[in-house]
Amino acid sequence: MDDMPRRIPDSLPALRAAARRAGFTLSCEERTGSLLALLAATRPGGRILELGTGVGAGTAWLLSGMDAASRLVTVELDEAVQKVAREQFRSDPRVAFVAADGGAWLEEYEGEAFDLVFADTWPGKFTHLDRALALVAPGGTYLIDDLLPQPGWPEGHGASVRRLLTELEERADFRTVRMAWASGHLMAVRTAPSGRW
Ligand SMILES: C[S@@+](CC[C@H](N)C(=O)[O-])C[C@H]1O[C@@H](n2cnc3c(N)ncnc32)[C@H](O)[C@@H]1O
Repeated sequence: MDDMPRRIPDSLPALRAAARRAGFTLSCEERTGSLLALLAATRPGGRILELGTGVGAGTAWLLSGMDAASRLVTVELDEAVQKVAREQFRSDPRVAFVAADGGAWLEEYEGEAFDLVFADTWPGKFTHLDRALALVAPGGTYLIDDLLPQPGWPEGHGASVRRLLTELEERADFRTVRMAWASGHLMAVRTAPSGRW
């Protein structure tokens, strides 16, 4: 059995072409995307947060798994990159795009908790981790990828990843699972309320 998804979102080819034109190489891979779609589909009417929109590949997968009542907030620092996603999904009322630094956004956000948080940039993962985890609702899922070693990793990044995994696995308020699959994932599910909720 190979593990590549058989179905991809209709919008993905156009987003890939736009990413190539823009020289953007950080989009999630298809297996990660298929996991995002599946997790989104487990939450009818769910609230979903993506940190790091890129050109919208992860957004496309999330939207493909969401039902009509689900809502996605996706935050990106680089407005030019996010513009690709905004244009692609401008007629989809389920997604709200935020152009902001993810760390500042996490510090200021005072709204409802999320059923799924895909933390795909520095804030919410290597910085502001507590804040991102505090936004995960009871029974909700926190997902990170890019945990398996890559040739382009900056000096010291492997140690940062190991510290992050340890920190997540030592938390008493989450159950975690490591998946050495695709780019390497950790999935964590909130099992006890955070101080916030
Ligand atoms: C791995 S890419 C996101 C890919 C996207 N989630 C996907 O699944 O295709 C990381 C993104 O985070 C953005 N980024 C970098 N620093 C950021 C910050 N401080 N706040 C928000 N976004 C940031 C980058 O511009 C980049 O587009």
